[in-house]
Amino acid sequence: MSPGSLFDPLADAYDQARPGYPDQLFADLELLADRPVAGAGVVDVGAGTGIATRAMISRGASVLPVELGPVMLDRLRRRTPDLPVVRGDGEALPLRSASADLVTYAQAWHWVRVPVAAAEAARVLRPGGALAAWWNDVDADDFHWYQRQQDRLEAMSPGYTREYRNRPFADELRWTGLFAEVATVTCRWHRELDIDLYETWLCSKSYVAAIGDRLEDFLAAERRSLLRSFPDGRIIEPFRTMLVVARVP
Ligand SMILES: C[S@@+](CC[C@H](N)C(=O)[O-])C[C@H]1O[C@@H](n2cnc3c(N)ncnc32)[C@H](O)[C@@H]1O
Repeated sequence: MSPGSLFDPLADAYDQARPGYPDQLFADLELLADRPVAGAGVVDVGAGTGIATRAMISRGASVLPVELGPVMLDRLRRRTPDLPVVRGDGEALPLRSASADLVTYAQAWHWVRVPVAAAEAARVLRPGGALAAWWNDVDADDFHWYQRQQDRLEAMSPGYTREYRNRPFADELRWTGLFAEVATVTCRWHRELDIDLYETWLCSKSYVAAIGDRLEDFLAAERRSLLRSFPDGRIIEPFRTMLVVARVP
């Protein structure tokens, strides 16, 4: 199944429950890209339902979302009706060369082949422009409820491993030889949400959907475990958001 169609059945849950991005992330992006987000021409690849797209628009950027999945794209269109959108692939961007200040991948870079997508981003960027990729990772390794969740996922979701996003993303970009500078920074933050919305967030993950017939068992075990750690049903979920910025010469 292609990544586009993988996310399409999850669009509703995705839109309701995915975390946004902290202000600090955009401050870090401005620092590493050496330009303000306000006024930037941004191509937001793997835009999904538009969480990062809208965050950058609200900070004054002019954003063109590019997304492979038709249902995700349709949700983005409904949430942000007047915005032109492109159905397209980050590995073959249907865009002119040297036409963007920033190419962003919010939680989407791990879905593309690095040499191909990096070359496309470098082609579409203006001189001095930057490719920026970021991920919200749950930062709860020290918590029992999170460890048990990861144990369950590794047991129930085919092929899932808690290390799945542990890749040298910055080095991979350096190794392409396309960029003058590659830098990375991490910020930490948290959100508080009720257990029902937390369950929707779990259901928006492709590797939770992959549990298939045993999904109800997984969710019931999660609820029991979470209520032991958060008896009032308000979950405190810590994140670390890792940002990688690669600037073209
Ligand atoms: C985890 S979601 C991230 C959505 C959004 N950027 C956000 O911040 O919530 C990843 C998205 O990347 C899209 N995607 C995966 N591979 C892609 C590709 N090669 N080109 C464009 N979009 C892609 C998927 O369809 C999905 O909507």
